Amino acid sequence: MIFDTHAHYDDEQFDEDRGELLGGMADAGVGTIVEIGASMESSRNAVRLAEQYPFIYAAVGVHPDNVGELNEETFEELKTMCGHEKVVAVGEIGLDYHWDTEPREVQKHWFIRQLQLAREMGLPVNIHSRDAAEDTMTIMKEYGRGLGGIIHCFSYSLEMAQEYVKMGFSIGVGGVVTFKNGRKLKEIVANLPLEKIVLETDCPYMAPEPNRGKRNDSRNIHYVAEKIAELKNVTKEKVIEQTENNAKLIYFS
Ligand code: NI
Repeated sequence: MIFDTHAHYDDEQFDEDRGELLGGMADAGVGTIVEIGASMESSRNAVRLAEQYPFIYAAVGVHPDNVGELNEETFEELKTMCGHEKVVAVGEIGLDYHWDTEPREVQKHWFIRQLQLAREMGLPVNIHSRDAAEDTMTIMKEYGRGLGGIIHCFSYSLEMAQEYVKMGFSIGVGGVVTFKNGRKLKEIVANLPLEKIVLETDCPYMAPEPNRGKRNDSRNIHYVAEKIAELKNVTKEKVIEQTENNAKLIYFS
C-alpha cells in the first residue's frame, strides 16, 4: 500500500473534513502516513495525530522558516517528543534561502543542532532545502553522515541526488514529478534506483497533475506512482510496493 513519507494534516485546510478524509485512506490504498512537524506547534500536533490514528506516525522538528522559536527550552521539549513511541524521525529541518525568513546563520545553527539531536536519539531525518544546495550539502557531510533519512521535495541536480544516495539518504518524490516543468526531477527518477526513492505528498501543498493547484492529500500519490512507473518502465504496483518497503526501512528500523 502507499506510504506517504511527508504530510501536514494538521494544516487548517483540513479542519473541516480531517476525520472523514483520514478515515477513508485505507480504502484508497494508503497504508501509512508520516505527519511532519514544521514548528513547535505542528510537531505537537503531529504527535497528537499519531496517537489518534494507528497508521499515522510523526516526525518532529522545526523548519528553517520557524527556527526563530527555538531556544534551549523549546529544544528540550523537541527532545522529549523524540522519545515518543510513534515519533519516527526528526524533521522537517534544513535551510531555506528562497524565503530567507530567518538569518542564514540562525538557520544553520538550528539545522546542525537538530541533526545532532537526531543522532543522539537514533532517529533518521527529513530534510527541507530550498535554494541552499551547497550549504545543505556541506552541513550534511559534516553532521548528517550515517543518519539516514529523506531529502524531501528534492529540487537540485541529478549529481547531487546521487551524492546524497551515496551518503545513505533517499529522495522524496511528490507532485512535481507530474508537472510539465518537472523535467529535472523526472531525470533524477529515471536515473536513481527505485530502492532510493520514496513517495510523499507535502499535502496540502504540491498536488500532482491532474489536480495541480488544488488541496493535496495522500490519495493523489496514485498519480505520482503512475508517473514514476512510466519513467522507470515498471508497473505502478511495483512502485508502490518497493517505495513502501523503502520507507519502512528508513522510518521503522
Ligand atoms: Ni513539508
